[in-house]
Amino acid sequence: MTMVISTLRPKPAHTQIKMASFSLVLSFAILLSGLGPALASNCYESLISFGDSITDTGNLFHLSGGNPRGGSGQPPYGETYFHRSTGRFSDGRLIIDFIAEALGLPLVLPYAGGAKQSGDGFKYGVNFAVGGATALDSGASNKMGLLVINGYSMKVQMGWFKKLLPSLCASASECKDMLGKSLLLVGEIGGNDYYDALMQRKTLDELHDLVPNVVSVIGSTITELIGMGARTIVVPGNFPVGCSPALLTSFQNSSGSDYDTSTGCIKWLNEFAEYQNSKLQEELHSLREQHPSATIIYADYYNATMSIFRSPASFGFRKEEVLKACCGGGGPNNYNLTLQCSDSRAKVCDDPSEYVSWDGVHMTEAAYKTISNNLLAGHLAMPIVNNTCPRIAQKIGVDQHTSGVGVGFLATRDVTVWFIFVIFYLMYFIVM
Ligand SMILES: *[C@@H]1O[C@H](CO)[C@@H](O)[C@H](O)[C@H]1NC(C)=O
Ligand SMILES: *[C@@H]1O[C@H](CO)[C@@H](O)[C@H](O)[C@H]1NC(C)=O
Ligand SMILES: *[C@@H]1O[C@H](CO)[C@@H](O)[C@H](O)[C@H]1NC(C)=O
Ligand SMILES: *[C@@H]1O[C@H](CO)[C@@H](O)[C@H](O)[C@H]1NC(C)=O
Repeated sequence: MTMVISTLRPKPAHTQIKMASFSLVLSFAILLSGLGPALASNCYESLISFGDSITDTGNLFHLSGGNPRGGSGQPPYGETYFHRSTGRFSDGRLIIDFIAEALGLPLVLPYAGGAKQSGDGFKYGVNFAVGGATALDSGASNKMGLLVINGYSMKVQMGWFKKLLPSLCASASECKDMLGKSLLLVGEIGGNDYYDALMQRKTLDELHDLVPNVVSVIGSTITELIGMGARTIVVPGNFPVGCSPALLTSFQNSSGSDYDTSTGCIKWLNEFAEYQNSKLQEELHSLREQHPSATIIYADYYNATMSIFRSPASFGFRKEEVLKACCGGGGPNNYNLTLQCSDSRAKVCDDPSEYVSWDGVHMTEAAYKTISNNLLAGHLAMPIVNNTCPRIAQKIGVDQHTSGVGVGFLATRDVTVWFIFVIFYLMYFIVM
């Protein structure tokens, strides 16, 4: 009896303090080790996007019953990563997929048919981008004397978003909160407005006349999204279209002086893309002044892609194939408008990772991956993306475009965590 009581006797006071401080150290260590990754990963809860075939993760595929115009519903589309056609206009993943991966989010589901693919529905994001979509709606483009090829304009995509929104959040304030915690990707859009105009042999002056209209649609979409609660918006510019096999083929009668001697791209087409991008950036500049609490990031697709055309080999691409499609109907650029990639007679390259262009209009997964790395690493997405999400810097790591400061920022936090841990550990010994 007495023996039992003696074992239940309270422990000496100093042992109690030791135990208490040790469990304090332990719980802090657990707390911090749990907090570290959580802070780093959940920069955005969801990724919501609008755009065209550059970003379409399956909308046109579902809207056309699995047989979209352009053939993205058939092999060899999707052969590289998914090993089946998903409706993406590439052999594999797109820029939006690499952004989602960098953010630690699942690949973004297409609005059309997407909710069925996942038990969580659109909890982690939704993609409204449709292959062939234009910035201008049919009314506006008809005024410009353009034949509208595809009816999925920016306005149509915003209409879908407003229709879907009540199913994503319960009240106006909840929706505002949800949008505030999302990353919004508005574009690339406008590429088809210009492409359609070029194919309809509009003049360069007429193309220039389209720019303010396209830019104003992008601007008003951003304004509307900010009004709904969006706080971080990524807005890509146009690609260097003068390097695309489709346009190189379509304008193959160009004279020698039309070509950039170092890259082989058509100069006036690239200069047009630069012009549209400068107008877009002016618009973003004024939107930033009007909405100082929002972060509007310009994603420089032009320079991120041009760096590949300037030195293909340094990114692992074959220099002699850089202006040829991997998959197409032959000819100098392996592109033929009447015999496209999805045609069973098309020639498909053995290794798409050595090619920049996939089907003459869209790029390979390898090119999209390089472009994404160029963008996420820093100076081609302004203001710098790693400012809004340090995880991106961690994910991309140090490459030739990174100064390493982004990575250093993360390391600094880790050092703080360890410092606190060591202080508590020392306190434990002092108390003991
Ligand atoms: C372009 O070249 C093709 C032959 O490749 C020729 O039939 C056509 O007339 C040329 N067009 C112009 C505008 O020079
Ligand atoms: C992007 O390209 C344009 C046009 O070639 C050039 O003026 C600009 O300096 C480039 N920007 C960066 C960040 O490389
Ligand atoms: C494009 O393909 C068609 C067959 O659909 C063929 O008749 C034509 O000659 C090809 N054009 C070129 C330039 O190879
Ligand atoms: C992000 O990266 C850029 C260049 O890679 C660097 O200059 C900048 O300081 C970084 N920002 C943060 C917050 O780490």
